[in-house]
Amino acid sequence: MSYENVTLEVGEDGIASLVLNRPEKRNAIDQAMIDDLHAALDELDGRSDVRVLILSGAGGKAFAAGADIAQLRDRRAPEALKIINARLFQRVEDLAFPTIAAITGYALGGGCELAMCCDLRVAGESAKLGQPEVALGIIPAAGGTQRLPRLVGLGNARELIFTGRIVDAAYSERIGLVNRVVPNDQVLASARELAEEIAAQGQLAVRLAKLALNTSSRTGQDTGVLVEQLAQAVLFESDDKNERMTAFLDRKKT
Ligand code: COA
Repeated sequence: MSYENVTLEVGEDGIASLVLNRPEKRNAIDQAMIDDLHAALDELDGRSDVRVLILSGAGGKAFAAGADIAQLRDRRAPEALKIINARLFQRVEDLAFPTIAAITGYALGGGCELAMCCDLRVAGESAKLGQPEVALGIIPAAGGTQRLPRLVGLGNARELIFTGRIVDAAYSERIGLVNRVVPNDQVLASARELAEEIAAQGQLAVRLAKLALNTSSRTGQDTGVLVEQLAQAVLFESDDKNERMTAFLDRKKT
C-alpha cells in the first residue's frame, strides 16, 4: 500500500522501514500523517514476517518536530480528551516486534514522544531532542510525562519538561534518552545493523521478551514476573527453542 505522508517497506529479511515523510514541515505530525500512520500500523499488524521496524524521518533535518502546531492551536479540551497522538503512540509501543527510532536532526515534542515509544533509539551526532511544550503553554501529553522519567529518571525528566530545553545527542546518550550516537550519515546503517542483530534471534523469543519488558513499566513486579514465567513456558514448548538448542549442542559435539 502507498501513503501520502509516510512510506512503508518490508524487506525479505523481515526488517521493516517506516519513514515520516513531510520534510518541508520537519515531519510535524498532523492529522493526515496520524491517519497514514494508523493505516501503516494496520498493515504491519497484519504481517507475521516482520521482525524489527525502523522508524525514521525523511529529509535529514528532523525525525519529527512534534505535533503540528497549526492544528494544535485550534484544539480545545474535547480534542485533548480524544488522546489523538497518545493512542497512536501507544500502538507503536504495543507493536509485537522491536522498533528502533533512527533519529537524524530534531526529535521534539511529539517527535521525541514517538521516539520514546520505540524500543531503541539511535541518534546522529547533530540530533536535538526535547520536550519544548511548556514554551507553547501545554505539556507533553502523548505519554511524555510517563515515558521520559522511565528512560532518564524523574530528576532528568523534570528538568527537561519544566525548562522545555532542547538537548544534544551526547547529553541524550548520557542520560539514557538514546541508546547510541553515531555520525549523522550512519544513523540508518547503524539502526539496520542493530535490527539485523535482533532479527537473527529467535523471533518468538524476541517478541515475548518485548511483551515481558513492556509489562515491567505498566504493572507491579508480581504481575511482571508472572508474565515472564508464562512467556518462558510458551517458549519451552516452541520448535524454535528445540531447534536452536539442539543446533548448539550438536555443534559442540563436532
Ligand atoms: N508544527 C507545524 N509546523 C512546523 C513544526 C510544527 N511542530 N515544526 C516545524 N514546522 C514548519 C515551520 O512552520 C516551517 O513551515 P514554513 O516553511 O511553512 O514556514 C517549516 O516547518 C520549517 O521549519 P523552520 O522552523 O523554518 O525550520 P528550522 O530548521 O529553522 O527549525 C525547528 C526547525 C524544529 C527547530 C523549528 O521548526 C521548531 O522549533 N519547531 C517547533 C518545535 C516544537 O515546538 N515542537 C513541539 C510541538 S508540541
